[in-house]
Amino acid sequence: MISRGTWSFLTSRPLVVSFELTHSCTADCQHCDKGGIKPEPKGLLHAADYGRLRSMLKPMAVQLSGGEPLLRPDLEDIIRAVKEPSGLPYTILVSNGRLFTEEKYLKLRALGVNQFSFSLDFPDERHDTFRRSRGLYEHLSHLVPTLAAHGFDDVALNTAITRDNLGSLVDIYKRATQWGVSISYSAYTPLRTHSMDHYISSADDLALLHRTLDELLALKAKNGRIANSPWTLSGIHDFFLHGSIPGCKAGQRFMVVTPTGGLRPCSMFEDTYPSQKEILKEWVPKNDCGGCYVSIRSYLDASFWTLLKDNLSNRVFGGSKAAKNC
Ligand SMILES: C[S@@+](CC[C@H](N)C(=O)[O-])C[C@H]1O[C@@H](n2cnc3c(N)ncnc32)[C@H](O)[C@@H]1O
Repeated sequence: MISRGTWSFLTSRPLVVSFELTHSCTADCQHCDKGGIKPEPKGLLHAADYGRLRSMLKPMAVQLSGGEPLLRPDLEDIIRAVKEPSGLPYTILVSNGRLFTEEKYLKLRALGVNQFSFSLDFPDERHDTFRRSRGLYEHLSHLVPTLAAHGFDDVALNTAITRDNLGSLVDIYKRATQWGVSISYSAYTPLRTHSMDHYISSADDLALLHRTLDELLALKAKNGRIANSPWTLSGIHDFFLHGSIPGCKAGQRFMVVTPTGGLRPCSMFEDTYPSQKEILKEWVPKNDCGGCYVSIRSYLDASFWTLLKDNLSNRVFGGSKAAKNC
């Protein structure tokens, strides 16, 4: 992974590619633009296309996301096509968990999925209301500890911080430890929904966020189990405080492939490009967007040496304390 990552740096290829396998979803989350079941579009990519894209882009890691990736009936074939005989790329499956079972978990990890990242927005049934998906929390509360009990240490939770769950972030951490998994936090971005409803902006809320992130930093130092580096946790506060955070490396260190094969620098913008070369030439030089601080972006803002150090200490991809989302 380290040599692949170094090669990507030197050749300006993306370290991480997020394959959005579908834009259909079993949930309809209040903070997301990908909610609800939709017919698949013409030109949907198939397993062989993902193999071709992987060998063209040669990422160190891929994220299988969406929409809800478990809606793809050919998911197993896609994973087979994405994985190289070497075991690369490091493969993270991001899911709401609704269609997940223990059997599916064992099958997908045998095929080479390295990390299973389940989204959790609340530590109780408020999760169902926020995701408009009745019974989802109850399902996760059985599923996640069952998967964790296998002891492979490849299951994590991911939580997008919103104004709605601001008061529950430590309880979500406690739920993760109770279920035996690690957790990664990211920040709500209004870029998907064009709504400030879930954004944290009042002085009181920002002060509470500051105190809560400090508490999470202390918990991380004491018990681990929080995947964020200290700089990404404090960056979450800076992002909400300033409404923006500079230094985004979209299109260079990470990029997104839509379900029909469009190449995008990130999932927040609709423009697609025929190649990463075009993204580097046309989009990257003009990119002054600081409008999100989702994990794929925040983790990859770091310098080469910081990323190298974090990977050597297993903090970002792989290892016992990893957790990652999109
Ligand atoms: C788009 S979903 C796709 C994968 C899967 N359906 C799931 O729910 O995990 C991936 C992640 O994006 C997060 N997300 C959705 N809308 C967001 C937003 N506006 N800001 C930050 N994160 C967001 C979700 O919470 C989820 O963890």
